[in-house]
Amino acid sequence: MKADRQLAKYLAGLGYGSRKEMEAAIRAGRVTGECESLRFDGEPLDPPPGMVILMNKPAGFTCSRSDQGRLVYELLPPRFLKRDPALSSVGRLDADTTGLLLFTDDGKLLHRLISPKSEIEKTYEATLARPLEGHEADLFANGTLVLRGEDKPLLPARLVATGERTARLTITEGRYHQVRRMFAAAGNHVEALHRARFGPLELDGLAEGEWRLLTAKEAESLS
Ligand code: URA
Repeated sequence: MKADRQLAKYLAGLGYGSRKEMEAAIRAGRVTGECESLRFDGEPLDPPPGMVILMNKPAGFTCSRSDQGRLVYELLPPRFLKRDPALSSVGRLDADTTGLLLFTDDGKLLHRLISPKSEIEKTYEATLARPLEGHEADLFANGTLVLRGEDKPLLPARLVATGERTARLTITEGRYHQVRRMFAAAGNHVEALHRARFGPLELDGLAEGEWRLLTAKEAESLS
């Protein structure tokens, strides 16, 4: 039946298996319910394309699909890696960096969120090797700081000291290792880095290694 073939294609796109396997699963009665409330093996179906995931990334996981070592994708259901359109992280955090990491399968949204033109605020909490000297906030705020190996100055960034060796830094770009390189330019060294905020989104108590889907309202707040 045409409807079954369409359903099999849809389920394959969600990563449940190949189209053939899904046709067999439908014939075997493993798919139940109606349009909005379909179930596979009795479980509600994964979200349709257009999903956005918020994760609290632990240290030691790489934002890549194929690197050696542990990958952030391992923290998601394996099926999510087989989705089409593919799910990808919204930019990257270094393996050692913890905190708020988004994933989406919405290509347009992804490009918008990682585009430097969007100037979305990202807030990081940094623990430094040496005490802050007091000049860092001005250095980062004045819009003239050029990172080593680059020629375009960084956009102004906001630093708030939260302790002798801790600071909260809000940036609107996402250059390679940007926060670590900014503190290096200020003569310091980042020992630990945590992203606490991405635009309007915060972790709100989500434990390390945990993830959740954004609500429609939260996803809208990103647009
Ligand atoms: N800046 C960094 O240096 N590392 C990150 O992971 C994110 C921002």
